[in-house]
Amino acid sequence: MERIARTLRSELTVAPYNDSYVYCADMKVLVIGASGFIGLPTAQALVRAGHYVIGLTRTQAKAKLLAAEEIVPLIGEVDKPEEWIKVIADLDAIIEIVGGTAKQLVSQTLEFVTKVTPELRPAGAPKLTYIYTSGTWVHGENRTDIVTDTTPLRSPAQLVAWRPACEQAVVKNTTVNGIVIRPALLYGRAGSLLAPFFKSASEGKVWYPGTPGGRFALVHCDDLADLYVRAVERSSLVAGQIFDAANDFTESVDDVLNALAKASGATSPPEYREPANLYEVALGTTHLIRPYLARSLLGWRPSKPGLVDGMPIYYAAWKATQE
Ligand SMILES: *[C@@H]1O[C@H](CO)[C@@H](O)[C@H](O)[C@H]1NC(C)=O
Ligand SMILES: *[C@@H]1O[C@H](CO)[C@@H](O)[C@H](O)[C@H]1NC(C)=O
Repeated sequence: MERIARTLRSELTVAPYNDSYVYCADMKVLVIGASGFIGLPTAQALVRAGHYVIGLTRTQAKAKLLAAEEIVPLIGEVDKPEEWIKVIADLDAIIEIVGGTAKQLVSQTLEFVTKVTPELRPAGAPKLTYIYTSGTWVHGENRTDIVTDTTPLRSPAQLVAWRPACEQAVVKNTTVNGIVIRPALLYGRAGSLLAPFFKSASEGKVWYPGTPGGRFALVHCDDLADLYVRAVERSSLVAGQIFDAANDFTESVDDVLNALAKASGATSPPEYREPANLYEVALGTTHLIRPYLARSLLGWRPSKPGLVDGMPIYYAAWKATQE
């Protein structure tokens, strides 16, 4: 049934935004930050699922990398939306994965999109889906109480204290179908935020900011990519929702550091250091997440081994990206 609906939809879809590409897919999705750590696996997963994926990227070199992955490259700066915004005229969804903690950028992109939507899309056009990438740091530090997608945010990590307001701006906005995805700490491939600690381990020193006894809420980049695909495909049903993207279980930071020491062959015992800045405070944050919303509404099930169990593979993957 879904297959038939998909086929019908593809045939009915109108001309591509760029004449050099023949339109032949389901949804038309723009990924902002398509060559990034989350953006690339997400764009690849969307392509694999049969969607027409446009990837916004800054450089020619990255554009080439995207084209090789059957992602239609669009060269432009995120913070200069006038360069690329025309693409939203016949788009189904925008996935914003710019990463970092750039508050300005986030509100600016949403503002621009909502502002030009009435000019570029005919009256009565279906709403554009807008998926904003937040993060589980908004749950803040709590080593005793379990939290979930719908737990009120009482004390976000200071670094991202502005983010709950941003999440609300996205899901409350009536111009777009707003959805928020909050990835937990990422692992896999090049290692994302954990990469510097893998590097340090490779040089013999295993350390982490914070204190012993902490726990990691984690998600593998491939499992996360699968969640974006599900959220985009069911966006008409889940508009206004905020999803925590984390494994079913948290993992002991002590265990992770021991596993890292073993995989890297580091000889000195793992140590904890006083966080040097707000970023390191956020890295050392423990939140005991048991997310349910993506499971119940989207049928999402992370399938990767955890960070401790899979450490030999994840460490080897990180190492391979360094050579
Ligand atoms: C949607 O968000 C933008 C940017 O924050 C804002 O300017 C606009 O007023 C919002 N529109 C609605 C209908 O909420
Ligand atoms: C953890 O959360 C519970 C419930 O919100 C709260 O009562 C408690 O004070 C929190 N603990 C810390 C250390 O913030």
